[in-house]
Amino acid sequence: MLLASLPISLLFWPSKAISLSTILTTYWPITGPQPPQFATGLVSSGKRHHRVVALNLPAMGIGGTIPPHIGNLSFLSYFNITNNTFQGHLPGELARLHLLNVVDFNFNNFSGGVPTWFGNLPKLQYLCLASNSFTGLVPPSIGNISTLESLDLRSNFLEGGVPEEIGYLTKLKWLQMGFNNLSGSIPPTIYNISSLQWIEFRHNMLSGSLPEDLCVFLPKLEFLRLSVNEFDGQIPTTLGECRELQFLSLSYNKFSGFIPKGIGNLTLLQILYLGVNDFTGEIPREIGNCTTLSHVELTANNLSGEIPREIGNCTMLSYIALGGNNLSGEIPREIGNCTMLSYVALNINNLSGEIPREIGNCTTLSYVDLSGNNLSEYGLEGLVSTKGDVLIMASC
Ligand SMILES: *[C@@H]1O[C@H](CO)[C@@H](O)[C@H](O)[C@H]1NC(C)=O
Ligand SMILES: *[C@@H]1O[C@H](CO)[C@@H](O)[C@H](O)[C@H]1NC(C)=O
Ligand SMILES: *[C@@H]1O[C@H](CO)[C@@H](O)[C@H](O)[C@H]1NC(C)=O
Ligand SMILES: *[C@@H]1O[C@H](CO)[C@@H](O)[C@H](O)[C@H]1NC(C)=O
Ligand SMILES: *[C@@H]1O[C@H](CO)[C@@H](O)[C@H](O)[C@H]1NC(C)=O
Ligand SMILES: *[C@@H]1O[C@H](CO)[C@@H](O)[C@H](O)[C@H]1NC(C)=O
Ligand SMILES: *[C@@H]1O[C@H](CO)[C@@H](O)[C@H](O)[C@H]1NC(C)=O
Ligand SMILES: *[C@@H]1O[C@H](CO)[C@@H](O)[C@H](O)[C@H]1NC(C)=O
Ligand SMILES: *[C@@H]1O[C@H](CO)[C@@H](O)[C@H](O)[C@H]1NC(C)=O
Ligand SMILES: *[C@@H]1O[C@H](CO)[C@@H](O)[C@H](O)[C@H]1NC(C)=O
Ligand SMILES: *[C@@H]1O[C@H](CO)[C@@H](O)[C@H](O)[C@H]1NC(C)=O
Ligand SMILES: *[C@@H]1O[C@H](CO)[C@@H](O)[C@H](O)[C@H]1NC(C)=O
Repeated sequence: MLLASLPISLLFWPSKAISLSTILTTYWPITGPQPPQFATGLVSSGKRHHRVVALNLPAMGIGGTIPPHIGNLSFLSYFNITNNTFQGHLPGELARLHLLNVVDFNFNNFSGGVPTWFGNLPKLQYLCLASNSFTGLVPPSIGNISTLESLDLRSNFLEGGVPEEIGYLTKLKWLQMGFNNLSGSIPPTIYNISSLQWIEFRHNMLSGSLPEDLCVFLPKLEFLRLSVNEFDGQIPTTLGECRELQFLSLSYNKFSGFIPKGIGNLTLLQILYLGVNDFTGEIPREIGNCTTLSHVELTANNLSGEIPREIGNCTMLSYIALGGNNLSGEIPREIGNCTMLSYVALNINNLSGEIPREIGNCTTLSYVDLSGNNLSEYGLEGLVSTKGDVLIMASC
């Protein structure tokens, strides 16, 4: 479609702040050679004809509904209107944009169902409808977009199940559906997408358990975030095969069983959030292999045994929360090796013995809670005298 042939009125965007026609006439004189650099906004292609191939209008203060006439921009490939105030339903005319490669509608207020016609866009690689007001089901037709690499439907009002058709997207790398009201279990087909790097379903009502061979089929997984759902069952013992894993969050679910020793194979792991579940057994000493760990949150489980001294190997550790378990024995003095620690909560356990002086080696501590244990005060003075602002809650 020749942009020049489009009557400007057809391109009117009903917004008081700025309209597309203003942008077109002000910033992209059709007679000019190239759009100016603002122009990020609009990009043309073709030597003889100006064709709109990109609408890149993030955070422009524009809004209103999307005019159906956008469906005339048949060369459009990149469509980014994040962080504006667009609302209403997405017009079906957009289904005509067969060259669309990127759709980024993040941070608007679109409503209605997620259109099924996205399934007809044969070149779509990136689809982000996050942080809008979409309702209803995730359309199974999304499973038709065989080119799709990133699907982000976070923070809407979607409900129902995760369609198994999503598992047909063999190129998918990023899958994010957190902060909706999805229920049922994650279909097994999803765990078959060997290209997956990110899986994020936090804050839904999903249930079911993780397949035992999870990490055999998802060797590229870097990020798994399933917190605040109703998942149960155990962490797959194949966990150690997910060697790229950097972020593991299963907090606020009904998971049980042991933390697998295979965790020692996760040498890139930075974040481990397993709090508020029903995990039992000991914290595996293999955790000492995870030298890039920065956050460990195992609060409110049924973990027992001692805090492994190998934790002293995790010198990047800044946050450790082990409160509300059944941990016993002494606090390992090796914790003094973790000199970047700022938050330590070991409260409500059965820890005994002396508080190790070495904890005073952690010069950036800002919060320490050792209350609800049987610790004696030795070591505390050092901590108090050197760190004025440390909050001590050690009811020894
Ligand atoms: C959205 O745009 C506003 C300015 O219009 C900016 O201050 C804000 O940081 C942006 N938010 C995001 C998430 O990009
Ligand atoms: C653009 O699209 C609208 C609505 O889809 C249609 O009525 C109109 O004829 C189209 N205009 C041009 C110039 O193609
Ligand atoms: C859309 O624009 C925003 C703001 O410039 C940018 O952060 C985001 O990465 C863009 N989305 C895509 C898919 O390129
Ligand atoms: C978003 O749209 C819904 C209706 O779909 C409306 O109730 C709500 O107030 C809107 N939110 C904002 C921030 O405009
Ligand atoms: C999805 O693809 C199937 C065939 O592969 C086709 O029958 C169906 O109509 C498509 N659905 C959509 C919504 O594109
Ligand atoms: C979420 O879905 C359940 C049914 O699956 C329903 O009972 C509940 O009201 C929904 N919650 C919200 C906030 O929509
Ligand atoms: C996973 O993929 C294999 C081979 O590609 C196939 O045989 C199997 O049926 C798939 N499993 C699921 C649950 O989709
Ligand atoms: C660690 O990885 C190696 C090599 O992939 C594997 O043989 C071993 O079983 C893994 N260990 C655990 C405990 O998963
Ligand atoms: C520690 O990681 C190395 C690979 O980085 C692996 O060979 C070794 O088996 C791991 N040890 C444990 C106890 O997991
Ligand atoms: C400490 O980490 C190194 C790798 O940096 C590893 O070789 C060693 O086995 C670890 N020690 C313990 C006790 O986990
Ligand atoms: C603690 O650090 C010291 C020296 O920095 C090192 O020799 C020791 O092995 C570390 N302890 C543990 C448990 O990693
Ligand atoms: C750690 O603390 C102990 C006891 O307070 C002290 O003797 C030692 O020098 C400290 N080590 C480092 C590396 O600061």
